[in-house]
Amino acid sequence: MSISVESISFTYPNATQALENVSLEIKGSELVAIMGENGAGKTTLVKHLNGLLKPNKGKVLINGMDTKTVTVAKLAREVGFVFQNPDHQLFASTVDEEISFALKNFGFSESEINRRVETVINFFELEKYRKLSPFILSGGERKRVALASVLAPDPKILIVDEPTIGQDFRQKEKFLKNLLEMVDEGKIVIVVTHDVEFVVPNFQRIIVMSKGKVIADGGIRDVLTDFKVLKRASLLPPKITELSWNISQKITSFPKDLISVEEARKAILNLIKRGF
Ligand SMILES: Nc1ncnc2c1ncn2[C@@H]1O[C@H](COP(=O)(O)OP(=O)(O)OP(=O)(O)O)[C@@H](O)[C@H]1O
Ligand SMILES: [Mg+2]
Repeated sequence: MSISVESISFTYPNATQALENVSLEIKGSELVAIMGENGAGKTTLVKHLNGLLKPNKGKVLINGMDTKTVTVAKLAREVGFVFQNPDHQLFASTVDEEISFALKNFGFSESEINRRVETVINFFELEKYRKLSPFILSGGERKRVALASVLAPDPKILIVDEPTIGQDFRQKEKFLKNLLEMVDEGKIVIVVTHDVEFVVPNFQRIIVMSKGKVIADGGIRDVLTDFKVLKRASLLPPKITELSWNISQKITSFPKDLISVEEARKAILNLIKRGF
């Protein structure tokens, strides 16, 4: 599994330049967050990864296939894409139909379709809504229907644009666990999000965008404790990082770059042991 974005630029027909010279490489078994301010170009970038948009300059290779030459159908089999707004994706008259649509298109047998629909319906707790129109559901439920329909064919690369909006804590935790399992199976999972606390501590890598450019790309500790980068992209550091930085200003032996509650717990117990 690999994604290779090579110096791409993209300008919308109304002359808004949304991407400028963006490059990145992502290989299998990675859980990557893309973060950045509103209008930074995150959605525009990920739409290039499933061929929905083609770059004006540069190229995008998905498992070696150039998105400019490969068919959208072929790409759709490799890359699952969940839209930021589920209403841009949902169209069927019932939740069951919505989820089975892609499975039918991809040529799964009827028994396999039924099995997969059952699995995602159970996972996303949509049993009650199977025969209802997706459009009468609540925002959070609609998002879960969109996620279920994209996950059902088990894509090798998954891109989710803002999955946590409108989801309660329990749904978020469950979904995160599912993403981690996919990564364990060797897949690439890319999540566009403003939700710093969702990213910590499970994501391995964060790509930060600002004004159409990638301004940071690295491990989560390096990126989330770089206050300059965060400020440029209108992101707040994790609360724990803020706390650890504040304590480190008073007690110099205290680490200033903690990102998780577990790390903070250990550091505070250490401090107590040493007699503070
Ligand atoms: N269809 C479009 N036509 C013209 N301009 C667009 C279009 N879609 C997005 N843009 C512009 O391109 C820029 C990047 O938008 P994009 O949706 O990629 O940002 P984003 O980082 O996903 O923001 P958000 O956090 O609000 O979702 C913005 O200036 C936006 O106004
Ligand atoms: Mg967006």
